[in-house]
Amino acid sequence: MKILAIETSCDETCAAVTEELSILSNVIWSQIDLHREFGGVVPSIARRAHQDKIDWVVDKALKEAGVTLNEIGAVAVTVGPGLAIALEVGITKAKQLATQWQKPLLAINHVEGHIVSSLVNHPQIICPAMALVVSGGHTELILVTEIGKYQIVARTIDDALGEALDKAARMLGLGYPGGAELEKLAREGNIKRYKLPLPMAGRESQNEFSYSGLKSAFFRLVNSPGEKSYPDLAAAFQNRAFEHLTRVMGKTLNRYQIQDLLVGGGVAANKELSARLQKLGGDTGLKVHLPAKGLYGDNAAMIGMAAGFKAERREFVKNIEEVDRQPRLRVDQV
Ligand code: KG4
Ligand code: ZN
Repeated sequence: MKILAIETSCDETCAAVTEELSILSNVIWSQIDLHREFGGVVPSIARRAHQDKIDWVVDKALKEAGVTLNEIGAVAVTVGPGLAIALEVGITKAKQLATQWQKPLLAINHVEGHIVSSLVNHPQIICPAMALVVSGGHTELILVTEIGKYQIVARTIDDALGEALDKAARMLGLGYPGGAELEKLAREGNIKRYKLPLPMAGRESQNEFSYSGLKSAFFRLVNSPGEKSYPDLAAAFQNRAFEHLTRVMGKTLNRYQIQDLLVGGGVAANKELSARLQKLGGDTGLKVHLPAKGLYGDNAAMIGMAAGFKAERREFVKNIEEVDRQPRLRVDQV
């Protein structure tokens, strides 16, 4: 079934046409330039930009996929988690199209989209599998009992990994969002020059991620007296942030019989992180699956892919009127 998917949970206005795990189009209009001067996403600006661009991305997604309305079997939309007033724009549009075109509607969890985003390259996985979602808003390790059934087995107790990388980047005067720039700087740096604490050292089996202590230590280090090497600072922060992530993952993965690790979210685009995840996979006998290019950050193709599984299970919305934004929706409530 061909699905038109819409995603407006944060600062990207997105529409895509998918058919099961095939992506026929994937249109992303990024608002980053509008938010950059504020050093983060401003919800009211995000909503306005989504309103301005939503029709444009939907039209372009249909055109690029070369499909007519008749060929679309269902409309899918992200209902949460995300910014309430941003989610609302996509939901309103999806309801309007589903009603006007008389198509069924599928309500999708954004995090489930990130979980399935790596399946475009690797549709064959064995469940239970594990999923790692690392983005600006999420740092979660999720047990995938089957596609559509999830259990969060480790999550951050404070900042998300992407959020922490963005804040560290900001302390070094890099632009927003700074994760990718920090990665570039860190490539030239020496991880041994500066010592930073390893978060939750010795408590890795508590199944929790934590980045706020590391962030505070980094702030003190950056602002301590004396000349500093920015590449070495960036390398030190990134090293500890990823070391903590993979250590907790190692402990948690030990408790499950898992063969496949699905990785999603903007931070997964980091080459150093993916190398460390591949190493963890090698050490623990896991196959590590990364998203295809264009599917790391927020996009509607991943929403369409998650919707494809839901459509197979015939889990269409029963009453369109009742579909509402769910800013704090958890992935285990799918
Ligand atoms: O998935 P995403 O686009 O949006 C959310 O759902 O949050 O993730 C955005 C996050 C930002 O924190 C950004 O700095 C980070 O992903 N990011 C990276 C890289 N590219 C994007 N972090 C580290 N290295 C990168 N190459
Ligand atoms: Zn996301």
